[in-house]
Amino acid sequence: MLPPVEPYRIKTIETIKLLSREERDKKIREAGFNLFNLRSQDVFIDLLTDSGTSALSDQQWAGLLTGDEAYAGARNFYNLEATVRDIFGYKNVIPVHQGRAAEHLLFSNVLQKGDYVLANTHFDTTRANIEHLGASAVDCCIDTDIEQEHPFKGNMDLDKLEASIKRFGRDKIPLVIMTVTNNSVGGQPVSLENIRRTREILDKYEIPLYFDACRFAENAYFIKKREKGQPDRSVKSIAQEMFSYGMGCTMSAKKDGLANMGGFFACQDDTLAEKFTNLLVLFEGFKTYGGLAGRDLEAISRGLQEVLDEDYLTFRVNQVAYLGEKISNLGIPVVKPTGGNAVFVEASSFLNHIPKEQYPGQALSVALYRESGIRTVEIGGMMWSKKDEKTGRMTFPKYDFVRLAIPRRVYTNSQMDYVASAFEEIKKNKCQTKGLRITYQAPWLRHFTARMEEI
Ligand code: F0G
Repeated sequence: MLPPVEPYRIKTIETIKLLSREERDKKIREAGFNLFNLRSQDVFIDLLTDSGTSALSDQQWAGLLTGDEAYAGARNFYNLEATVRDIFGYKNVIPVHQGRAAEHLLFSNVLQKGDYVLANTHFDTTRANIEHLGASAVDCCIDTDIEQEHPFKGNMDLDKLEASIKRFGRDKIPLVIMTVTNNSVGGQPVSLENIRRTREILDKYEIPLYFDACRFAENAYFIKKREKGQPDRSVKSIAQEMFSYGMGCTMSAKKDGLANMGGFFACQDDTLAEKFTNLLVLFEGFKTYGGLAGRDLEAISRGLQEVLDEDYLTFRVNQVAYLGEKISNLGIPVVKPTGGNAVFVEASSFLNHIPKEQYPGQALSVALYRESGIRTVEIGGMMWSKKDEKTGRMTFPKYDFVRLAIPRRVYTNSQMDYVASAFEEIKKNKCQTKGLRITYQAPWLRHFTARMEEI
């Protein structure tokens, strides 16, 4: 089989530098073993996130020059509005500076203290925004094992969803969210059928469905490739159908908007749009720019169109799979099949000499930086463990993932080979990898700022 090949060529390059091992060791210690504290210039291959890290195309760069920086009514807003209406089908389009701003304004308008938001899985900022308002975020994703091949591991568990509605009561659930792809469980897709059936259940209870649409194009591509009856459709028409089952969406354009900054909220409901806009003016900016420059709006509008290019999506998804397979072939457990944006490595079974209380995922992230200058992010005990209010004991998530998020259109396959080799080196001396203890943590989203020491 031919390897995944980039359907573009490089026009501009950015030099990256691999520091010496001694320098990397010094940097990670100074960072309190938290990779968020590293300076980007000290990182060789940056797989911390696929958010805001895309390379712009020549067409997007050209679009930046068409930026209309008027306070109100900039032409680029109308371009974006038309693009969003075309793909997402929602008539009210409100720009924001990034996804969590849309989440904050949406939830501030619809949630009361004591409410519940159900989702296939909430992303961490989504959960934090809900909890910050005194409401609860409940995940209803299907249960699967990490190495179990399942085409749509991001799906909503329809029984869990309906049981949760009955348990908490319809009046306490102002909306349900479908995250596409489902980032927190491995960038895994949701099937069209699952979206349709979720909507059917919600219709019974008259609960609106909203999408967290960050990676909608990757999700639609997986539907085309994996779902019965879909291969002959365009990715765009699949995306349009996906969104037709919802009332609106929050979108971080830093992912499948192929932009470095920006997002939007889009919805059908005029009253909600008006309330949202009123808060927008207070926190983000006027309704035709929402905290963004006119040129940013143009980059997003063009990015949303480019991301639906099926040659691009084929390479994108196959590059992630290529890296996943290389790591898996070393006998290191990864979530299978690989998702759209990242390879998720399960660290607690790989570094099984490190107990969960000592954050094996974080330990693996530290080792990857020390070994090879690669920056990744832990999605495991560091991010999610917390004290049980009743027992006072710490509870830990089942898996300690290290996410290798692949920026869009940025790295070549030879850089993916380099990443796989780093795992090979760590595996040789894996027992030398040490666990960690937290020395500082913030009251929420602690993984961004925590400091640790090695045990
Ligand atoms: N929803 C999902 C599914 C996300 O993955 C993110 C961000 C957000 C919402 C928030 O968007 O960053 O623009 O405010 N995910 C990034 C990541 C940060 O690394 O996965 P934002």
